[in-house]
Amino acid sequence: MGKAIFIRLIALLVLILVISSTVSAQTDVADQPSAVQLNARQHFMDMKFGLFIHWGVYSILGDGEWVMHSRKIPYTNYKRLADFFNPQEFNAKEWVALAKNTGMKYITITSRHHDGFSMYKSKASTYNIVDGTPYKKDPLMELAKECEKEGIELRFYYSLLDWGREDYAFGSEIKDGKPVKGDWEGYIRFMKTQLTELITNYPSVKGIWFDGEWDRKTADWHLGEIYALIHRLNPAIMIGNNHHLSPKPGEDFQLFEKDLPGNNSAGFSAEAKIGKIPLETCETMNGSWGFNINDRKYKSVKELVHYLVNAAGKDANFLLNIGPMPNGKIQPEFTDTLAKIGDWMKVNGESIYGTRGNVIAPQPWGVVTAKGNVWYTHVMKMPADRKVTIPVGNKKLKHAELLDGNVKVSFKQHKGTVILFLEKAVPDSLDNVVKLKFSL
Ligand code: GLC
Repeated sequence: MGKAIFIRLIALLVLILVISSTVSAQTDVADQPSAVQLNARQHFMDMKFGLFIHWGVYSILGDGEWVMHSRKIPYTNYKRLADFFNPQEFNAKEWVALAKNTGMKYITITSRHHDGFSMYKSKASTYNIVDGTPYKKDPLMELAKECEKEGIELRFYYSLLDWGREDYAFGSEIKDGKPVKGDWEGYIRFMKTQLTELITNYPSVKGIWFDGEWDRKTADWHLGEIYALIHRLNPAIMIGNNHHLSPKPGEDFQLFEKDLPGNNSAGFSAEAKIGKIPLETCETMNGSWGFNINDRKYKSVKELVHYLVNAAGKDANFLLNIGPMPNGKIQPEFTDTLAKIGDWMKVNGESIYGTRGNVIAPQPWGVVTAKGNVWYTHVMKMPADRKVTIPVGNKKLKHAELLDGNVKVSFKQHKGTVILFLEKAVPDSLDNVVKLKFSL
């Protein structure tokens, strides 16, 4: 073989290798998260507290986001809700201010729920708020702009499951990873188009929150391709999936529905091992995600603050949900409670934001969060003798004070523990946060 031919052959081989590696990078998830992704994950863990919003045409019926399914409303009838969805009182400024005043750092909102209605201007489906309702405006664009202005991160919930589209063919039997009816490949393409819209038209978006995979456990969802597409469009976007399983390749955070990681109290997480990516747990303010006019089982300020603190103690973010009303307003029961949580956060936020959990196991009196050499002891259940014992190993405590009022707390170090004497604490406070400073 001549030298020139040999060089050409080698060049061709190199070219083929380069092309095939880019192609595989485009269709599959990367083995290692990029530096941009790792940064986004740390930032996410620092934010700790977010607002979840379930809002759609279902809100009109005031019976939660599953109303079409639970009341067995045929899709052709249900679709008509869009004809009179006209949330004239929606005000992005008010929603973002609500999140901000509650001490929340991000918002995750339903861009498309299981009913398939897109709450944004989509070219892939006319069943969307701009083209399919008298409202004709895009609330997600308004929110994106307002969030950017106010320094709140925006994330989109996106349903994989669709009750109405023919290509999805809800209820179809699955064979060889595909529904027998419908057009599975077409549906996957549709989702890719919508996700591309959501990521490229709303440049401030920082996360995609998938849901509904559990509807088709044996189907091939092409998740590798979908995740790779998202990260290619914007590597800083964090992907989470409410599949109730252990994390899958390409996911940036693990979701726990109505559940603190490891507790499986809602019964969804039996198969979910806690992974090595950031964690987030979501909960409702009453019992519903979407607006429910009959649901008056409101959780108290205390319950919700404790949920946030216990989540932080387990190193998880807390995404607290509201279901706005069909006119775009948020009911006073929610705003009142959120205002009180905001008051608590103004005093105690330092013990939540930027901290890490799993410092020590949860104790009968509460949990610990930490930031470097500072620990925050959250005493949510005051012992009768007002003494709290904390396992600290060989760390040396220099100073202890109540975060509320900076009142000095006396303590004793004894055999790998610190004993705090909390006679100056308010016994029935939501949470007596004691800041502990250890020597370096
Ligand atoms: C469940 C519900 C869904 C809701 C979600 C929020 O998956 O099916 O309606 O949006 O939980 O966590």
